[in-house]
Amino acid sequence: MGRAKRNPSFFPLELRWVSLTLYPSYILDRNALNFFLESQTMASTELPFYDPAGDETEIFEHAWKNRLPVLIKGPTGCGKTRFVAHMAARLKLPLYTVACHDDLSAADLVGRHLLGDGQTVWCDGPLTRAVREGGICYLDEVVEARKDTTVVLHPLADDRRLLPIERTGELLQAPPGFMLVVSYNPGYQSLMKGLKPSTRQRFVSLRFDFPSATREEAILIGETGIDADFARRLVSIGQSFRALKDRDLEEVASTRLLVYAATLASSGLSPVQSCRAALVESLTDDEETVSALMEIVQATFGF
Ligand SMILES: Nc1ncnc2c1ncn2[C@@H]1O[C@H](COP(=O)(O)OP(=O)(O)O)[C@@H](O)[C@H]1O
Ligand SMILES: [Mg+2]
Repeated sequence: MGRAKRNPSFFPLELRWVSLTLYPSYILDRNALNFFLESQTMASTELPFYDPAGDETEIFEHAWKNRLPVLIKGPTGCGKTRFVAHMAARLKLPLYTVACHDDLSAADLVGRHLLGDGQTVWCDGPLTRAVREGGICYLDEVVEARKDTTVVLHPLADDRRLLPIERTGELLQAPPGFMLVVSYNPGYQSLMKGLKPSTRQRFVSLRFDFPSATREEAILIGETGIDADFARRLVSIGQSFRALKDRDLEEVASTRLLVYAATLASSGLSPVQSCRAALVESLTDDEETVSALMEIVQATFGF
């Protein structure tokens, strides 16, 4: 099925954190600490398992070749981050991932002066590093970031490909390898927080959604090594839960949660225990809803 070779040892824990020990003598304030912890870079030598839905890998490659930024929209846990990790490895590019939040500012992306031993030292942020190294900077949930980040994203996202660093007076021209990738979940978008048309019209856009049943089974098997029958049952539970969206459940069961359930079960928990902990209790706090969902789980496993 044209699927990339599975890398059984790929787990987020293997991400190589931007090392705090590089700057042992500097005092890190809370923001600086967050800034280090939330930007992750990953060695791109291994190919993370990604099961494609259609032509997204081809479109991404063409966008990169033509120096165009990419926007990925889709619900949480449907494979956006995994896709970007896979593409970075495929294109052999360093990847800087930033989980955006409502306190994330342009300085968090570009860099800041850190204080230590009575002097200040400039420290590049993840966006600047990606530009200098010619890698991918991936801004996850970009709509959450503060509006001042658009000041640095706009000149980088159009054909100028420039990053002005106000604090140091530098103006960086992004090398050919550099690519800006952003993602967001349209379901979480409030009226106030939508991406401005001037921002979104700078990107090539890809729509992601939860995989078809057959593909989701292949993902569960590829990720966790569970057998086909168990994968089929888990996926059918996921689909029954998704049908309850907007009635009993606010959130749908993501592929990520199904992977968690499969992981717990393959480590020795019973299927029912695994589904309760990874799926049901993660989706709702309401006890009646928990009972209703557990009935579906038990019926699926023949209790
Ligand atoms: N197409 C896919 N191929 C392989 N794994 C996938 C795929 N889609 C989802 N997954 C699994 O689901 C998990 C969550 O996906 P992720 O990329 O983190 O979601 P998102 O970034 O959209 O919230 C991944 O860690 C992986 O285990
Ligand atoms: Mg993600």
